[in-house]
Amino acid sequence: MRIGLNSINALCAIQKFILEKSSDKKHVLWECRHKVINVMSNQGFLEPKKSFATLAIHAGQDPDQWNSGAVVPPIVTSTTFKQPAPAEHTGFEYGRSGNPSRNTLEECMAALEGGKHGLAFASGLGATTVILSLLSKSDHILSSDDLYGGTNRLFRDVASSISVVLTALVTTVVDKASGSRRVMARMGIDTTFTDFTDVNKVEKEIRPNTKLIWIETPTNPILKVADIAAISKVAKKHGDITVVVDNTFLTSYLQRPLDFGADIVMYSLTKYMNGHSDVIMGAAMIKRR
Ligand SMILES: Cc1ncc(COP(=O)(O)O)c(C=O)c1O
Repeated sequence: MRIGLNSINALCAIQKFILEKSSDKKHVLWECRHKVINVMSNQGFLEPKKSFATLAIHAGQDPDQWNSGAVVPPIVTSTTFKQPAPAEHTGFEYGRSGNPSRNTLEECMAALEGGKHGLAFASGLGATTVILSLLSKSDHILSSDDLYGGTNRLFRDVASSISVVLTALVTTVVDKASGSRRVMARMGIDTTFTDFTDVNKVEKEIRPNTKLIWIETPTNPILKVADIAAISKVAKKHGDITVVVDNTFLTSYLQRPLDFGADIVMYSLTKYMNGHSDVIMGAAMIKRR
């Protein structure tokens, strides 16, 4: 991250200067915001969305959508919805395919992300698994070399092509790299892990069958930072490659990958988006279907 101690000191100095010079609080706040945006944009940051807080409490939450006019979206627990006639419904039929409370969450998250559509999942890895299901056998994934352990295991063990060969012989093998015993699977998808802090390295690893570039930035655990815009540009240069960003660590408040050219942004909502460590959930947002 390019915003360092010097920038923070500079911002504090600006804030102190403005507070000393002005008695008009509204003006002070406006000036502060303006200076912060200037400093950030000089460092390559996009201007923060002006209406983030407004979107967070309004997007997807129009009280007129409920008969009750509830201002706080109700939690709908019904699995099944009344149908006026067989195969006719008024927007909802079965909780797996649609639930009013979940729709609210999805719409709100899509708005915060600058996306068009949002999808909620039972966990971050649930979202990742569904994104991987967009791929076919023999496709190739290019991934950050540092990333969340569960995603890493999913790419290595569930999707890898070595699994295909070995599954024919055994159902479990000893993974040579870690020495651990792992369940082998059948998808036949190869993954290359490389250093995403260097866009040239990323470009060198693209193959004709690369269908997905998986960026986690900052990474879990060692906080490596990748240039989403540069990698997305390289991906588009090489054809039909879907760029996914795991935005779990920064959230849409601090980083909006779709604005930088990514195709899908995904989350473990379990972490900072939820913020209270009391929910396991995942999400994926897109700009187009
Ligand atoms: C960066 C990152 N991505 C994905 C996940 C997986 O999310 P979940 O635990 O919600 O399945 C985690 C979990 O720690 C994570 O830290």
